[in-house]
Amino acid sequence: MKLLIQPILIFIAVLISTSGADEVIYAQVGDTVTISCPQKPYMYWAFQGRKNLNLAWINHLGGKGLGDGAKEEGWIDKLTWSQHGSLVISKINHENFGTYHCQLTSNGESVTTIKVLKLDVSMKPSSPLLPWESLSLSCSVDTQGDRRPNIHWLKPNKVIMHTGNVNKVVQSQENGVWTCVVSNGGKVKEVTVLVTVVDFSLDPLHTQYTSESMPLTIPCSFAPRVSWEQLKARGVQEIYWQFFPKSSSGHEPQKLYVLSMENTQMWNNTGKNKELKPVPGLQSGNLSLTKKRGRMEDQGEYVCIMKFKNGATLNRTVRVEMLRIIASPRTDLVSGQPLNLTCSVGHPLPPDLHLQWSPPQRSSQSSLASDHHPANLIIPEVGTGDGGKWVCALWQDKTKLTSAEITLKIEPKLSVWMLVIICSAAASVFLILTLVFIFCRRRQRKVRHLRHRLCQCKNPKPKGFYRT
Ligand SMILES: *[C@@H]1O[C@H](CO)[C@@H](O)[C@H](O)[C@H]1NC(C)=O
Ligand SMILES: *[C@@H]1O[C@H](CO)[C@@H](O)[C@H](O)[C@H]1NC(C)=O
Repeated sequence: MKLLIQPILIFIAVLISTSGADEVIYAQVGDTVTISCPQKPYMYWAFQGRKNLNLAWINHLGGKGLGDGAKEEGWIDKLTWSQHGSLVISKINHENFGTYHCQLTSNGESVTTIKVLKLDVSMKPSSPLLPWESLSLSCSVDTQGDRRPNIHWLKPNKVIMHTGNVNKVVQSQENGVWTCVVSNGGKVKEVTVLVTVVDFSLDPLHTQYTSESMPLTIPCSFAPRVSWEQLKARGVQEIYWQFFPKSSSGHEPQKLYVLSMENTQMWNNTGKNKELKPVPGLQSGNLSLTKKRGRMEDQGEYVCIMKFKNGATLNRTVRVEMLRIIASPRTDLVSGQPLNLTCSVGHPLPPDLHLQWSPPQRSSQSSLASDHHPANLIIPEVGTGDGGKWVCALWQDKTKLTSAEITLKIEPKLSVWMLVIICSAAASVFLILTLVFIFCRRRQRKVRHLRHRLCQCKNPKPKGFYRT
């Protein structure tokens, strides 16, 4: 057993000696570094770089002072003491990287050795990027013969890139904070850089649903953390909205709004759509348009376009679709008639969307149990309770996207029968009156005729006439 342990001990000793220091501190130029020594009655700090310098001393009674070396150019303004008696080197520069020793006497043996190594982190270019431009990130350590640390980058979405030198074509999702992670044993140092990718924040193609009873908002905005100043620095030439109506495919697209890029950012309405208005918040990058109610003519594709002086363009397309209810045969019905209600956007819905009907409270259909309702609601016989407002809502998971409404008028069947009865009663009365009239006329005529006949025989016949 002893034979085995000895080589292991030697191996560990070799590992420690290659590290060459009790502690390693990675710092960038300009950082503040704190060097702590063990608590002893007297302690001296020495620096071993291009020159060997006595920097400072402290004693257990609270006495402290700077050594001769500290009087060298550049050191004296940087050295201070922490509350716990550690030496603090502020705004560290190239000359301050090297090995620091904690000693019991001003030129005695080193008790603790601390290496302060230079960490370089850089980004090229430093200005905001457009998607598909090249990004270079570099993260390296001047090891001064010390063990090479493990260096990797973390993207804003925390995905690891196993290299200290990133060279890639940037994408809009890579906008944000990148982190260089330097690790050496248990010691980890993180440095962040902000990569700005100028782009819109929506997905390239977004579908917006609305209806004639709902407002319409056509969203478009910059990616978070992109400012007007950065956009101008990148040479934005023009921002505008274009509309491709659904109804007239093949027609010229309409330019709806153009943003003037002078000192005051302001939308200019081209007059093509007077109801659509820009939302407030243009200064913070919200380019959305809105109107109080959707209309069938609003269906189509709206494209938010950003043009740059170098010829590059960025755009986002928002497809606007209208949900509506169609009642067949019509919305004015008599109870007992069949009715088809169809709720649709004019084509089959994507599988992740579903519909939900809300009939009027007294409707026979009010117990539509399941969550997923059919687009086509067939009622074989409507009742008077089915009259009123029907709502059809479009859902994506637990989010209501929009809803459409229709109002049905159902006449009770009874009144029709009553109408029939009243009509037939009236007809009967009329018939009877006509008959009576005709009958009377005929009687009158008969009487006149009889009288006429009687008058013709003015002279009554001799009595003998009757006797015969
Ligand atoms: C833009 O404004 C609209 C309307 O006020 C709002 O609904 C939307 O959330 C805003 N978008 C952003 C990214 O702020
Ligand atoms: C209602 O829908 C059904 C099935 O889709 C169809 O057979 C029927 O003709 C429709 N009725 C009316 C009045 O549209």
